[in-house]
Amino acid sequence: MKNIDHQLVIIGGGAAGLRAAIEAKKELDDVGLISKVRTLRSHSVSAQGGIAASLANIQESHNDSWEKHLQDTIEGGAGLVDKDAGEVLAKNAGGNVIELERMGVPFSRTEEGKLDQRPFGGHTFPRALYAADRTGHAIVYALYGENVKLETTFYDEYFVLDLMTDGNSVSGLVAYDVRAGELVVFRAGAVILATGGCSQAYQLTSSGTASTGDGLGMALKNGIPLQDMEFIQFHPTGLRDKGILITEAARGEGGYLRNDRGNRFMEKYEPESKELAPRDRVVRAMQREINEGRGIDGKDYLHIDLTHLSSAKIERKLPTIRELALDFANVDPLEQPIPVQPMAHYCMGGIPTDTTGRVQGKEVQDEWQNLYAAGEAACVSVHGANRLGTNSLLEAVTFGKRAGRFAAEQAKPGISGKIDANLVDRYNSRLNSLRKDQGSVRSHELHDGLKETMTEKCGVFRSSEDLTEALDIIHQLQKEYSEKLVIEDRSDNFNTELRTALELGNMLEYSEVIVRAALEREESRGAHYRTDFPDRQDEEWLRHSFFYKNSSGKLRYHYRPVRNST
Ligand code: FUM
Repeated sequence: MKNIDHQLVIIGGGAAGLRAAIEAKKELDDVGLISKVRTLRSHSVSAQGGIAASLANIQESHNDSWEKHLQDTIEGGAGLVDKDAGEVLAKNAGGNVIELERMGVPFSRTEEGKLDQRPFGGHTFPRALYAADRTGHAIVYALYGENVKLETTFYDEYFVLDLMTDGNSVSGLVAYDVRAGELVVFRAGAVILATGGCSQAYQLTSSGTASTGDGLGMALKNGIPLQDMEFIQFHPTGLRDKGILITEAARGEGGYLRNDRGNRFMEKYEPESKELAPRDRVVRAMQREINEGRGIDGKDYLHIDLTHLSSAKIERKLPTIRELALDFANVDPLEQPIPVQPMAHYCMGGIPTDTTGRVQGKEVQDEWQNLYAAGEAACVSVHGANRLGTNSLLEAVTFGKRAGRFAAEQAKPGISGKIDANLVDRYNSRLNSLRKDQGSVRSHELHDGLKETMTEKCGVFRSSEDLTEALDIIHQLQKEYSEKLVIEDRSDNFNTELRTALELGNMLEYSEVIVRAALEREESRGAHYRTDFPDRQDEEWLRHSFFYKNSSGKLRYHYRPVRNST
């Protein structure tokens, strides 16, 4: 077994992890970054529409300010944004975006040469800076290039199994080198979890196949709570049946949503903001149109119509959308509407952190000493119950940068923790038995069951009856996973069947939390809509949920108030 030491180890090679590494490199010589996929394939590359900052660069946004950005973020988050975190996000947005531009992100510009800004749902002013409709791609490539220059050490295709901990301190982690098929122990002075989102628990999702919430699974195994997991965001416009994003920028640039009768139905639901209402409201309107039989041909999808936009605009601002529609739906958006349906997109909840990125324990005072989290895996509470589009790339770079800076401080004294030999033995036996056991169920069968359950029973609309059934099914799937799982591929090298089975273990754990948190929250707020409790109830529910496993593996929970001061 290999042992590797680094002052700081970052898990995850998306925007948050890469930005954290750049900042940490200002203080430390020695930073390792682990990614379970090739770093440049991390899910952040598929972010399309933009990154928010109140630069007030164009005529329509000249009255914008960071205070208005904060206000929109709080309103979009339906009361659950922590104001101190929201302030850090909005106030530093301009500086953080300009830093990206200096690193080489080719943001689209106005004719006068300024960085252009486009409208996005829930933002009062055009605020989204963008690189055509490939903003995440441009940002990840620039951040990666910067890391290469700074000599960050990359470990691609390593799957992290667990953290090595001692009380509220982390000494390193145990990983599985997928290429070599062996365990590797990393020791570190501090660790940052930037493991991304968890939407692969759903059938149709804009998130890449790597978005299996491994950091959330690791947190639960170590008694760390997950915060606000009931708030799963559905994106209004996923390409029908494909799980490919049709960016909200298509609506920002003037696209209309239409039903089977050709009606621009958002005029009825949101007469003022129409297609640019916050996502939770657009998605519910779409789902209602579909449920009431006005989907296209009575089916489960609608249209986004760009045919009235000029071909020059589409060529310049939405080239990828045209390409995707042509390649995957055989539709040319210059001439025909694109078939779309809501799909799982983003998790507002995650591993709770303070505004430095430091992971919080079961109680506010139980902070972890040298464990940090950032990006979609984390919940610093800037999105509340419903995230505004373009605030997630901003969150990733803002809090990735902060986690990098503060974790580097913690990591400076060097590595002190010992290797936890028991933990290593446990994972060695687990991997060996997974490769030998003669079970009867393959992990993709269980994954299909999970995706179907989460989509049908814990989707845009939820009820007590559906959520209770979902919990029973998830418990059954967990039992089958531990008793009947079989890995048919017995090979050592690049055994991706083994890796996906390990990912499923994480998914089954946090999906239970999503459903349980949704069941307990007897109100509707942001992305969480209960048909049996359709009203928002601030008196009782203006609070964050925290779910964790106790030492005997039982799920426990409590609530904490929203931080309303800065
Ligand atoms: O539609 C989009 O381009 C998504 C942006 C976001 O979720 O921030």
